[in-house]
Amino acid sequence: MEGLEKFINQVICGDALEVLRKMPDESIDLGITSPPYNKKEKHGGWLVDKVRYKGYRDVMPEEEYQSWQVEVLNELYRVIKEGGSFFYNHKVRYEDGKMIHPLQWLLKTKWNIWQEIIWNRKIAGNIRGWRFWQVEERIYWLVKGKPKELKPKHAKLTSIWEIRPEQGHKEHPAVFPIELPTRIIASLLEEEDGIVIDPFCGTGTTLVAAKLLGKKYIGIDISEEYVEYAKRRLEKAEKEKARVLKELSLHSIELTFKERKERGFWNKRA
Ligand SMILES: C[S@@+](CC[C@H](N)C(=O)[O-])C[C@H]1O[C@@H](n2cnc3c(N)ncnc32)[C@H](O)[C@@H]1O
Repeated sequence: MEGLEKFINQVICGDALEVLRKMPDESIDLGITSPPYNKKEKHGGWLVDKVRYKGYRDVMPEEEYQSWQVEVLNELYRVIKEGGSFFYNHKVRYEDGKMIHPLQWLLKTKWNIWQEIIWNRKIAGNIRGWRFWQVEERIYWLVKGKPKELKPKHAKLTSIWEIRPEQGHKEHPAVFPIELPTRIIASLLEEEDGIVIDPFCGTGTTLVAAKLLGKKYIGIDISEEYVEYAKRRLEKAEKEKARVLKELSLHSIELTFKERKERGFWNKRA
């Protein structure tokens, strides 16, 4: 086990599980990630054909994949502080006609599932007629103990997030739109200082959002190429500030729920 200082504001090239194992218990405030989805590119890319990572092949027997995700999530549980949260983005997949749901492995972890957020991307690849067009992904808000209550300006954003997929950063096939980690960090950490981790950080979107919001960050990715990309992106983070500010402008409220109730807002409409 090593002190956390050497990991702070670093993008580390390595295996998420191995790197996490070196970090001290209860030392990180918040985590956000989108892991590889085990899309089985070998079988012709039944999930999204164009997703091909550099330096990583997203092919595992499903059982092994799920056990790996449980191990990573439990290691994250150890390093996150009591009262801290982890936001885990994944999606419902289908294989051999059967649904594979993220809850299948999330319920085997130590985390308490606090909320399921629907990420309505409004668009997705792989349009075949076997099912209705799946344009949503899921974001699981996982908690260790009880998190702080969100301020009304964040809580009013609803559990359906309408955020279009990222169009830039073509060097990577599955980049977060920066609005997504911005929403999470701004809502959970508010003005507080804090450390944010992304154990599968890819191009470093979570880290850039954390930096622009004045938080500390730790990123891990197995691909040297993505790690270098994330480092370059962090150096010119200011260029992405306008999108972060636009997302923050959505976090505003004229009246709280309590004030609306007191003024009979809902009664009047009924
Ligand atoms: C869905 S992408 C994350 C993209 C990221 N959210 C962004 O905005 O760029 C998943 C990442 O996991 C990385 N990865 C795959 N296996 C890994 C492992 N064992 N440890 C750490 N990173 C890994 C891949 O290189 C890929 O960049």
